[in-house]
Order: sequence, then structure tokens, then C-alpha cells
Amino acid sequence: MGCSCGTSKELSANGEQCTVIIIDHEEYEARYGRQKPVVMFPIRGQSDVTLTRHLVDEYLKERLSLWKDPARARILLALTEAVTNVVKHTPGGALSVYIDAVGPRFHVIDRGKGLHPDCPMCKFFRKGFSTTASLGAGFFVMMQYFREIVLCTSSRGTKLVLCSDLKSG
Ligand SMILES: Nc1ncnc2c1ncn2[C@@H]1O[C@H](COP(=O)(O)OP(=O)(O)OP(=O)(O)O)[C@@H](O)[C@H]1O
Ligand SMILES: [Mg+2]
Repeated sequence: MGCSCGTSKELSANGEQCTVIIIDHEEYEARYGRQKPVVMFPIRGQSDVTLTRHLVDEYLKERLSLWKDPARARILLALTEAVTNVVKHTPGGALSVYIDAVGPRFHVIDRGKGLHPDCPMCKFFRKGFSTTASLGAGFFVMMQYFREIVLCTSSRGTKLVLCSDLKSG
């Protein structure tokens, strides 16, 4: 299974459907460039994994009535995987939060070298795929708990857009 820019695929993770869309930096700008995040947190090191999770939770608790378990806990877990990837695989980045009608949307943006260019894009979304000696569970968990993932990656870095849907669970 191979993906390239502009493609959109319905993938399944433990029975949960997730739309994965691959775009380039131009398309990212066209889609999101004019939007302003409601809040933004830097990702500089390991301690920011717990800190960003806590700050996002506190921020959304006060503003979204639908920000409740079990969706809340699942989304925070999946978001933690994305932030952990920035810490593990890149020199750093930032997490921005946007609020859509159906729930929060998270943009996890880093200054790394991008996902390995020799690997077909869909490989990264398979359970157990890792370029390090790790479980390769991060993207799989994200696919389970976000309804849509938009990925934009190149040697200039990676932008991951994680869209939740609190209305349909
Ligand atoms: N922000 C990123 N920049 C560059 N490469 C990344 C990034 N995020 C993920 N990757 C690549 O994608 C692979 C799969 O990521 P995933 O989170 O699924 O697994 P992992 O991080 O290797 O292991 P685990 O999350 O289980 O500890 C990683 O091994 C890494 O090569
Ligand atoms: Mg990971």
C-alpha cells in the first residue's frame, strides 16, 4: 500500500475508522495558514510531554462542555503519542490547539527531518512499524482516537493535524 501527496485513505485501527490525508506544505498553508490557534505550547524536551497534556486538558476542561471521559482520556493519550514523537524523533517543535464545531483540533509541528523518505507513507500507520527499537504504536493509537489525521512531512519538518470528533464519540 503506497500513499503520496494529495491522497486520502480510510484506515482502520482496532475497528475505528480514521481518514488519513497526506498533503504538502503548500496545501497545508492553503488549508490552515490563515487560522489562529486558541493556544500554543512549545515542545522542547521530555518534560513537555506531561506538561502539554496537562495544560491542554486544563484549557479544554474550562471551555468545552463535551470534553469528558472516555473521549477526553483517549484523545489525551493519542495526543501524547504525537508529542512524544517530536521529543523522540526531532529537535523540537510546538503544539497548537484549534477549536472546531465538533471538537478540538491539534497541530503538532516540528523542526525534524521528516518521516523517513524511503518508507511508503502508509507503513508508518501500521501497528508495529518503527525506525527505532520501539513498539511502533504511536500512529496506530492516533488513528484509533482521532477521526482524521492530516500529515505534511518533508526534510523541512513534519506537520501533523489531529482532528477529534467529540459529537460522535
Ligand atoms: N515527528 C516525526 N519526525 C520524524 N519521524 C517521525 C516522527 N514521528 C514519527 N516518526 C517516524 O515514524 C515511525 C513510527 O512512529 P510511531 O509513533 O508509530 O512509532 P515509534 O515512535 O517508533 O514507537 P512508539 O511510539 O511505539 O514508541 C517512527 O519510528 C519514526 O521513524
Ligand atoms: Mg512514537
